[in-house]
Amino acid sequence: MSVADLYERGFGVPAAVFATASGRVNLLGEHTDYNQGLVLPAAIALATEVAIGPSRDDSFHLLSQNMDGAHARVDYADGSSPPPGYGRYVYGCIEVLRLNGVDIAPCSVAIHSTVPMGAGLSSSAALEVAVLRALRKLHGLALDDVTIAKFAQRAEVEFAGVHCGIMDQMAVSVGQPGQLLFLDTRSLAYRLVPFPPGTEIAIFDCGVPRTLATSGYNERRRECEAAAAALGVAALRDVVDPESIASLPSPLRERARHVVSENQRVRIAAAGVDAATFGQLMNESHRSLRDDFEVSIDALDALVESVLSQPRVFGCKLTGAGFGGACVALLGAGAGAAVKEGALSAFARRGFRGSVLL
Ligand code: GLA
Repeated sequence: MSVADLYERGFGVPAAVFATASGRVNLLGEHTDYNQGLVLPAAIALATEVAIGPSRDDSFHLLSQNMDGAHARVDYADGSSPPPGYGRYVYGCIEVLRLNGVDIAPCSVAIHSTVPMGAGLSSSAALEVAVLRALRKLHGLALDDVTIAKFAQRAEVEFAGVHCGIMDQMAVSVGQPGQLLFLDTRSLAYRLVPFPPGTEIAIFDCGVPRTLATSGYNERRRECEAAAAALGVAALRDVVDPESIASLPSPLRERARHVVSENQRVRIAAAGVDAATFGQLMNESHRSLRDDFEVSIDALDALVESVLSQPRVFGCKLTGAGFGGACVALLGAGAGAAVKEGALSAFARRGFRGSVLL
């Protein structure tokens, strides 16, 4: 059912405005954004669509076809907050606009998404940006795309309780499918760069949900902050002499080593490299995330190895926060179908059940 039909069936009248936002996959620059570093994500061809119109009472009414099966319909009175779940992201966007002086009357929202939830493809950022774009249209707001990304991040941190960086929201708000987004998360300066010539990407899910994603993520954040404080820098982004991290106690040393080396990998890739070099950087990134940052799990490692054992694969790594979820691979153009089939069979032979996300 289209999002327009979903809205009309659920609320009895046609929606006033529609907006869409893509999910994202991150090719390089993992766990660097909250260290004020560099990232290289890309928007993908999976998207979240929203339809919004005025509510006919004093409550907000949310309807989702596939965001959250158990809580497909959420109704909450203005002045209260919805229960944990996808409703919190919508609520957060509305409250952030209000905190910025925008008068938002209760509205009805229908959501349809092809971005899988909890796989590491930024379903939450896609929802936030789509909702903010729709509200921008509905209220004729003069908000540029970078401001939308900042508001979306604030909604997630302050209202959904996830202390994320700004990579996902920027990738979703200013990224373009088919292009890499080279973003400096400190200045928010960015430029779109092409993928290495003759390549395409594939995205796989390892079948294990990201159970530790929130607690493990927040712990890594704290470790990075502790490492930066011990080194006397504002953020790990500012480490100029990589040798200086040798003095840190474990595991701060390993965490810092990941962040410093990962920023360097992004710099090299964004300058323009061939597919083989780009793939090697992705492989190094995965090893660093596995060994130094310790955010991989057995299923993800086995999946990455299964993908790398296929012909015409340049590189493969976990994508997003880790602790389960997805991995992304860079392949020779046209190799997608064979690699996907071969990788899933190899993964199954190792006792896991994965799936292809894109
Ligand atoms: C999650 C967060 C991002 C980023 C990645 C790891 O996707 O939302 O801000 O930190 O993890 O690179």
